[in-house]
Amino acid sequence: MKLWGGRFQDRTADPVDRFNSSLSFDFELYPYDIRGSRVHVKMLARQQIISKEEKEEILTGLDVVENRLAAVWKEGKIPWQAEDIHTLIEKLLAEEIGSLAGKMHTARSRNDQVALDIRLYLRDQIDKIQTKLVKLLELFCKLAARHLETLLPGFTHLQPAQPVTLAHHLLAHTQRLSRDLERLQDCRQRVNICPLGAGALAATTFNIDRQWTAEELGFTRPSANSLDTVGSRDFLLEFHHCSLSIMLNLSSLAEEIIIWNSPEYNFIELDDSVATGSSIMPQKKNPDIAELIRSKTGRLSGNYQQLAMVIKGLPLAYNKDLQEDKESLFDTVTTIKETLEVLPVFLQGIKFNREKMRESLSRGYLNATELADYLSSQGLPFRESHKLAGKAVNYALSKNKGLEEMSLAEFKDLFPEKSEKLNPELLEKLLPLKAVENRTVLGGPAPSRVAEQLESLKKNLDRYKKK
Ligand code: ARG
Repeated sequence: MKLWGGRFQDRTADPVDRFNSSLSFDFELYPYDIRGSRVHVKMLARQQIISKEEKEEILTGLDVVENRLAAVWKEGKIPWQAEDIHTLIEKLLAEEIGSLAGKMHTARSRNDQVALDIRLYLRDQIDKIQTKLVKLLELFCKLAARHLETLLPGFTHLQPAQPVTLAHHLLAHTQRLSRDLERLQDCRQRVNICPLGAGALAATTFNIDRQWTAEELGFTRPSANSLDTVGSRDFLLEFHHCSLSIMLNLSSLAEEIIIWNSPEYNFIELDDSVATGSSIMPQKKNPDIAELIRSKTGRLSGNYQQLAMVIKGLPLAYNKDLQEDKESLFDTVTTIKETLEVLPVFLQGIKFNREKMRESLSRGYLNATELADYLSSQGLPFRESHKLAGKAVNYALSKNKGLEEMSLAEFKDLFPEKSEKLNPELLEKLLPLKAVENRTVLGGPAPSRVAEQLESLKKNLDRYKKK
């Protein structure tokens, strides 16, 4: 069965039918399509476009069709051929209730119908992704709370730079991801608009009630322009961007996990339950999960590009090109959901090696800035302090020790003309914990500040949980 063909004299060639069909992938939309049809049919009856009896019969038929489709979805093998899921549903409905099935499509086109289906689908998926993201963020907060005073090097250029705390580091990732959460919520607002009523492109002459349909389907409002409604997919592109941003942020986390897990760093150890082995090298314990997260980011970037190229240069309004919006969308949704499911399990299987992190602070002269800052606080211009601190690093290197292992006498010998400015306070300031504790500036790594940061992130999350 086709939903068109009245003006055709010959049947379409098989390869054309096959190439044209989206059923193999848009089958996934069947629950949303049926949901939309139910509301549409109820609206038609309310507006007296179809009778109450017709409505009841169509609704009963749709129940049967839905059950049949659910069974097939579970089975995983589609026994029918059709141009798309919309056509199939109408065909199956006709098997139940005969030609009355044709009335379901009154005042509707597949163009506004498919726009409805993907909006309903995506709204649902955004909510699921959001729940998972909130859980992940809560886990980050829980881990951070345990490590407010766990010291480790902070890096720039992947070179040890200054001491920070693990909590501060973990919350940096949390900040990124909580922005992603906000982005997703923002995107949802633009997804949550009802396209039904836009028809093929120029709405309809029937006296439909778009407001009622929109409300029944939980949308904030009906869309404002019928051409835009059937011809635009920027709300999908926006979702791709949100997802890509999540994955890009997670890829950065994944990369750190991979580095930290290397024997050279040894900052973390992976529990057996989240690590993988090598088939040839028995000593290996690999961070495959982090590596996969890192690489799956590429898929999402590809999916974004794919949709952008579908949209590029499309004239208004609907074009069949838009059928190609679905597979990349489904792939992105699946990938992001799977990633957000495995990541908390993986993170919980990470043991942070505090001693190793602490130990690596004594190599690399991470407190050199502290020394320069101290000299400046004694009245020296920072450029001069910087030079002197460099001299001290050179000296300590030659003695094969850290700055914090130098005595006051050594500092005085090194800077004889600044000798009276140097007092025991300096030695305390060079201790890594002190260096961190003294950075109490808003946004800094001092445990007191990080505790505040943690509280405000948690409060923000509570807001999302209530929504
Ligand atoms: N399968 C189509 C899609 O996904 C449904 C809309 C078809 N509309 C049309 N005018 N051929 O976009």
